[in-house]
Amino acid sequence: MAESMAGLKRTHRCTEVTTANVGEKVTVMGWVQKSRNKGGIIFVDLRDRSGILQIIFEESDCKAESFSKAEKLRSEFVIAVVGTVEMRSGAANENLATGAIEVRAESLRILSESETPPFPVEENSKTKEELRLKYRYLDLRRPDLQRNIMVRSKVATLTRAFLAEEGFLEIETPTLIKSTPEGARDYLVPSRVHPGSFYALPQSPQLFKQLLMCSGYDRYFQLARCYRDEDLRADRQPEFTQIDMELSFVDVEDVLDVNERLLQKLFKEICGYDLQLPIQRMTWREAMDRFGSDKPDMRFGMELKNVSDVVKDCQFVVFKGALENGGSVRGINAEGQAGMPRKKIDALVEYAKGFGAKGLAYLSIQEDGSYKSSFAKFMTEDELKALADAMGGKPGDLLLFAADKDKVVFDVLGNLRLELARQLNLLKKDDFKFLWVTEFPLLEYSEEQGRFTAMHHPFTMPMEEDWHLIDSDPGAVRAKAYDIVLNGTELGGGSVRIHQNDIQEKMFEVLGFTKEQAQEQFGFLLDAFKYGVPPHAGLAYGLDRVVMLMVGADSIRDVIAFPKVKDASCLMSEAPSPVDPKQLEELGIEVSQVQEEK
Ligand code: AMO
Ligand code: AMP
Repeated sequence: MAESMAGLKRTHRCTEVTTANVGEKVTVMGWVQKSRNKGGIIFVDLRDRSGILQIIFEESDCKAESFSKAEKLRSEFVIAVVGTVEMRSGAANENLATGAIEVRAESLRILSESETPPFPVEENSKTKEELRLKYRYLDLRRPDLQRNIMVRSKVATLTRAFLAEEGFLEIETPTLIKSTPEGARDYLVPSRVHPGSFYALPQSPQLFKQLLMCSGYDRYFQLARCYRDEDLRADRQPEFTQIDMELSFVDVEDVLDVNERLLQKLFKEICGYDLQLPIQRMTWREAMDRFGSDKPDMRFGMELKNVSDVVKDCQFVVFKGALENGGSVRGINAEGQAGMPRKKIDALVEYAKGFGAKGLAYLSIQEDGSYKSSFAKFMTEDELKALADAMGGKPGDLLLFAADKDKVVFDVLGNLRLELARQLNLLKKDDFKFLWVTEFPLLEYSEEQGRFTAMHHPFTMPMEEDWHLIDSDPGAVRAKAYDIVLNGTELGGGSVRIHQNDIQEKMFEVLGFTKEQAQEQFGFLLDAFKYGVPPHAGLAYGLDRVVMLMVGADSIRDVIAFPKVKDASCLMSEAPSPVDPKQLEELGIEVSQVQEEK
């Protein structure tokens, strides 16, 4: 039986009731976390988004009707209680914000009853994520998720306030747009009015924010919903939110400056963390050489060392072969790990193979200075010593080497470094190590497509000093592009944009577009640039990732109210779903392959 709340008005959220209210009458409403009937006296933990408050029902001071209702209370009933705040009769509960007080109830209304929930609504739930996502509305009642969602809201509010203060205008851009071939796969939306034609959902507001610069809005931002049909991971969702911005009459420095101050503000207000400015900067080249990654985790060392020169004359075919093929030999020093059991080393070798390594060579330096190694028999004692010295190896250290093309070596050692850090517990979640990675390559060669593709996007400005290489050595041209990295996660990225038509045309040519194709795909941007375009630059953060790192979550699913799972479906609403044939007919669409019902 559900009662109305007519005549009642909530006076406090649960944890807004404090010792300062002792003696006052309050009206609180929320969900029953737990109810314990001690015979003649009933304790109820009342929960709302602020936390938990203890209510005490005693037959002597409660209306009889209310007391009998209280006897029926079960978890997740929604109730309203009128009562008086008093100091707890028993010992204070130090785990609760309201642990020193309780509310002595005089009346109770049951606003809504609840069936037994499929899992308990509690912090640090042990329930499988799949079940929690199916009942996401219950999952979202859990205090840890509620905190995450509240932090997210606060980040959005602070961001808006900060950027407005800095002269940015919040402007919305369309989400039904033209499909473009660059980037990830688009989500398409069929047009009914133009059968056979499709809109795309935006992967980012990139072109529109550049057009806004052409239109003179000079500083734009938006909390923008973006859609990408790509393989999902812990830090990727098919739809996600960017803090997106664009600025006119600026260069790299200006963008980094305003963003450093934004990050400083957000991390101070939300995490109490004092971010020291300026944030460290590192070129992409240096990041790859030292960490094997364009998003290095700076919370620990274990840097890569290039030992190609040291081993260039040795007879170990693995090393020799890699060097002869234009590759390199690099290593990392897992300090103090010489005693790692063989089984664990073998597991590391397998891990490395998962990133394309053909093997992983190791050299452990025993306490007596002798070596144990998978390749000692192919090298002289002097060569081994030179190699160990080049790695800064001391007795007790374990040296791990990869020999291959640079790309593979970086990928293998970059990931191995992270895996070792995880195993050795070097990654503290409350330690925030920011890094700007700058001077990304403009282009990267795609073996799959047999052509160069834009590393960031086709509108990214090349570095002037490299532009002369665009025909002779396109892969060597660096871009005015930057990423902001936090603890090994790419939080955001951006670039200075091309605002000269001749450079943009050349860029399309290098990317393999004919003039006609470029005009057909991006004509509206190229045309806009004919009518006076300011130099401009911008950046976008993944808001979900920012919040994930702030709250120490392992996945962005934990900071998104209604996320999707690995196969891009929603377990709660069961989207995507087949549609009525009539809808398809209206759209002029015929489905040729229907997946078997699972
Ligand atoms: P980029 O593609 O680097 O740049 O995206 C910017 C940031 O968005 C986040 N992000 C994602 N978050 C969750 N799920 C995803 N699938 C996902 N994909 C990206 C990342 C990333 O750093 N228009 C440019 C920005 C610019 O040049 O101004 C852009 O979209 O945190
Ligand atoms: P093998 O002579 O093939 O047994 O290799 C000797 C050692 O070199 C083993 O520890 C292999 O794991 C390792 N190894 C093989 N290929 C590579 C490679 N590309 N890079 C580094 N080590 C390798």
